[in-house]
Amino acid sequence: MSGVELVLLGSLHRSTQGEPPSCAVTQEIVASSVTVPELFFDGGPGSHSVSARFRSFGSPAIPHCRPFGKIHRLGCAVIRTTEDYSALFACPSRLSGYPWRMSSTFGQVFRIHTFGESHGGGVGVVIDGCPPRIPVSPEKIQHELDRRRPGQSEIVTPRKESDTAEILSGVQDGLTLGSPIAILVRNTDQRPGAYDEMAAKYRPSHADYTYDAKYGIRSASGGGRASARETIGRVAAAAVARQVLDHFHPGIEILAWVKSIQELNAEVDPQTITGEIIESNIVRTGDPAMVETMIDRIKAIRADGNSVGGMIECVIRNCPPGLGEPIFDKLEADLAKAMLSIPATKGFEIGSGFAGTLLTGREHNDAFRMIDGKVRTTTNRSGGVQGGISNGENIIFRVAFKPTATIMSEQETVTASGENTELSGKGRHDACVLPRAVPIVEAMATLVLTDHLLRQKAIR
Ligand SMILES: Cc1cc2nc3c(=O)[nH]c(=O)nc-3n(C[C@H](O)[C@H](O)[C@H](O)COP(=O)(O)O)c2cc1C
Repeated sequence: MSGVELVLLGSLHRSTQGEPPSCAVTQEIVASSVTVPELFFDGGPGSHSVSARFRSFGSPAIPHCRPFGKIHRLGCAVIRTTEDYSALFACPSRLSGYPWRMSSTFGQVFRIHTFGESHGGGVGVVIDGCPPRIPVSPEKIQHELDRRRPGQSEIVTPRKESDTAEILSGVQDGLTLGSPIAILVRNTDQRPGAYDEMAAKYRPSHADYTYDAKYGIRSASGGGRASARETIGRVAAAAVARQVLDHFHPGIEILAWVKSIQELNAEVDPQTITGEIIESNIVRTGDPAMVETMIDRIKAIRADGNSVGGMIECVIRNCPPGLGEPIFDKLEADLAKAMLSIPATKGFEIGSGFAGTLLTGREHNDAFRMIDGKVRTTTNRSGGVQGGISNGENIIFRVAFKPTATIMSEQETVTASGENTELSGKGRHDACVLPRAVPIVEAMATLVLTDHLLRQKAIR
């Protein structure tokens, strides 16, 4: 990588009024420039000391340095490093010492922070750690958002949103600056009135009860943060990440499609499936023979005031070997986390997945062969990942989506004040979330891959 990138590995030891350090937090941050002279963090009240070291990659090499400083008050404090090298370090903590936040951040190096509620002013993302001088096309961002948009076909929610992206920062003359990239999509078709009853009654299998139980407050209208509108930020960020992938490793293909809806199963060859086939139908299945059957199923279930789920399959082709960290940040573990963070997901499997449990080792092992001078496997039950690291074969995984929680049928539930009652859904909803979830699965896979590609570039 040209230029200078810094990775800060810092640990925060916090002690209050002479007590021993009550927590240690380690964070990894990339600063895209050596010129940012300060290290910030919000450490809460008490006395704090920070020790950190910089690992540099690229050129020139950055000497080992230690920040120094103490914080005696709430808020953002400045800690200077001995060498005046630094990064933005965001670590809100409470008196308990627990680094509290509503976990809206994903990624280690290519790091995204999503924001916004379904019926608030807007939703979006701040991307931190995007390398400088990457060409970014607003049209490509908009294209991906259009694929995720509500109201795009007769089988998805009729909410009318253009989901127009505004790039607020971090991009100049079509190139990334290396500074945070903020992308905003304003909400325009809010109808909070449809949620009046649901503000007092918990929707079965939605996030209403658990948000209340956790925070004691929630944005009831449209599901607030639990709404799939939150995923707009992810899709926009992934469209930028895609351009980072294209810059550093052109040729990586990430394609997802609807594999099944209930028991209706699509026959798709992950080696040959194309984006054109998937986008040629409104269900986004990869099997043209199943399109009409799947559409009919979704329409029938919607007409009955009910909902259905299914499975999305995803393939990553031309992924280089070596991506993924071998212990806790295994590529498959990060993919699983990414996928299970998508609303309405209930399962993840990679390669042979759960079906692999039926095979013996002799049947299951992927034999190695040298093919065209490369280490290859003759089968791919590993799904392209071994020991948490990509092996160069296609990465293939599947994600299970439950039937949409909000249905237009009366169901038993309770009120926020603890009485048994009934509730029938109102407002505009997807009877099946899968067609719109396809670009979200691709987006999360893109974010994981980009993060690991940049991490790998720090090593070799
Ligand atoms: C693309 C997409 C669209 C969704 N649309 C709806 C919807 O219209 N109504 C609804 O109740 N849930 C919808 N969901 C799912 C909810 O956001 C989700 O079920 C809810 O936040 C509870 O979280 P959980 O299902 O992950 O436990 C959608 C999810 C996705 C991925």
